[in-house]
Amino acid sequence: MFLELFLGFLTFLLIWDFIHKRRKNKFFENAGITGPKGLPLFGNVLSTINENTETIFEFIKGMRNEYGKIWRMWFFHQEGLFVQDPRFFESILSSQQVISKNKLYNLVAPWLGNGLLLSTGAKWHARRKIFTPTFHFKILEQFVEIFDQQSAVMVKTLYEKADGKTVINMFPVACLTALDIIAETAMGVRINAQMNPDFPYAKAVTEVANIVATRFIKGNQRFDIPFMITAPHIAYRLNKHIALMHNFTDTVIKDRRVALEKSIAEGSNTPLDVSDDMGVKKRMAFLDVLLQSTVDGKPLTNADIREEVDTFMFEGHDTTTSGISYTCYLIARHPEIQQKLFDEIREVIGDDKNKPITMKDLQELKYLDIVIKESLRFYPPVPIIGRITDSDVVIDGKLIPANTNIILLLYAALRDPDYFSNPDKFIPERFLNEKIDPFANVPFSAGPRNCIGQKFALLEMKSTISKLLRHFELLPLGAEVRPMQNLILRSASGINVGLRPRVYS
Ligand code: HEM
Repeated sequence: MFLELFLGFLTFLLIWDFIHKRRKNKFFENAGITGPKGLPLFGNVLSTINENTETIFEFIKGMRNEYGKIWRMWFFHQEGLFVQDPRFFESILSSQQVISKNKLYNLVAPWLGNGLLLSTGAKWHARRKIFTPTFHFKILEQFVEIFDQQSAVMVKTLYEKADGKTVINMFPVACLTALDIIAETAMGVRINAQMNPDFPYAKAVTEVANIVATRFIKGNQRFDIPFMITAPHIAYRLNKHIALMHNFTDTVIKDRRVALEKSIAEGSNTPLDVSDDMGVKKRMAFLDVLLQSTVDGKPLTNADIREEVDTFMFEGHDTTTSGISYTCYLIARHPEIQQKLFDEIREVIGDDKNKPITMKDLQELKYLDIVIKESLRFYPPVPIIGRITDSDVVIDGKLIPANTNIILLLYAALRDPDYFSNPDKFIPERFLNEKIDPFANVPFSAGPRNCIGQKFALLEMKSTISKLLRHFELLPLGAEVRPMQNLILRSASGINVGLRPRVYS
């Protein structure tokens, strides 16, 4: 009886799988999109079983050579449409219709809730509208002081290793710096992660980011139920850290709301005069904007605000960590570029290593600008992004059925020889000499759902990297990077440099 039931169920599954895949494959074929043949039920899962986050780059190259810049694969019953064609990017990223994120993002949902990164539809539109003005030049300008102060702390912690011999993995260093910066700018609190990496909130953020990164790699951890069964201790740690982070943000939001209400009740001429008992100068954090915002005339609740603050904490630290550390790595390995950078810094800021940098200085560091741009092309901190179609939709002239997972391969597109000459060479000057297609150069994505923190990120990177270069010569020490395609680009061998105190001659 059991066997009969099982066989009956299996037959039903096979027929359903066949019909489902045939229907979607027809759509794809009509749009000129093909891909490898798969097995019933399993699809193409077995052909990727030996791949990992390092080998995936070569795998993608192989698929592109065989099937072109758009191909499809099946993972059990779920298809993935893999795309590295800037024209398809242009169509999809400019669309106001295809804005929902695909299942790739579920891994961060327990932490971030339904904030700006994950939300869709009317909620996303309303939140995006609130946030857009907060990245105005005037608001970013007041953050330059924070970038500078936290970069100074970073430099201080690095002096003891700056002996010209010690290999320094920049990833954890940049991570704590970025964490200090985003905590102060997003929440208005100093967490001093660089001086005290064991501060529970800082530890929880880095641990959760690491667990999410591992879940991305390990098949058994990717989906919730197998994760809880095969790695219960990690699942427990993850939940514990997420609860701690939520508690922390909840408390900050409550305190900040009380302070804001008090300030308004006391008749402060501007509600932004929030006095702060955590030692931070009066300054408008992203959180303050949210506390004063309304959607349809109603203020945001603490829960609404928490998901946005958490989103900024995640999006605003792991990405810049990757960007800062890979840029340092590339500068260390290109001494002639480093020399040009240092000359520019001396010309703009002068020889006083401790003079705080200003917004004007940052804007004048033009060569640093293109070095960072090229570094973000070469090692994009966000190597892939994903969308899911909510309905049948025409993208770049191709009819794509509803519920299709689309994976935009930013890393691959950023090294496309059709759009970048010598794409595997690090050439900052290409941003002066070549006409760069805006939909091929997409480290911050593009269109209405692009990175809202782009200007913030570039200023932060310029500030931290120029500070490092003012104090140290970066040396090409340690193992070469082994990029890992993760939610954020990391490296299996660390992102290593050496440092020597800078001598001003
Ligand atoms: C070098 C650093 C950064 C890179 C390369 C980067 C890249 C990106 C990319 C590619 C997206 C699109 C994601 C998608 O479509 O799923 C994105 C979205 C986003 N980024 Fe960034 N980012 C960086 C830094 C930042 C910073 C510093 C912040 C905050 C201060 C931030 C906040 C966000 C938010 C909130 C979104 C979601 C926007 C939306 O969906 O409307 N990012 N970022």
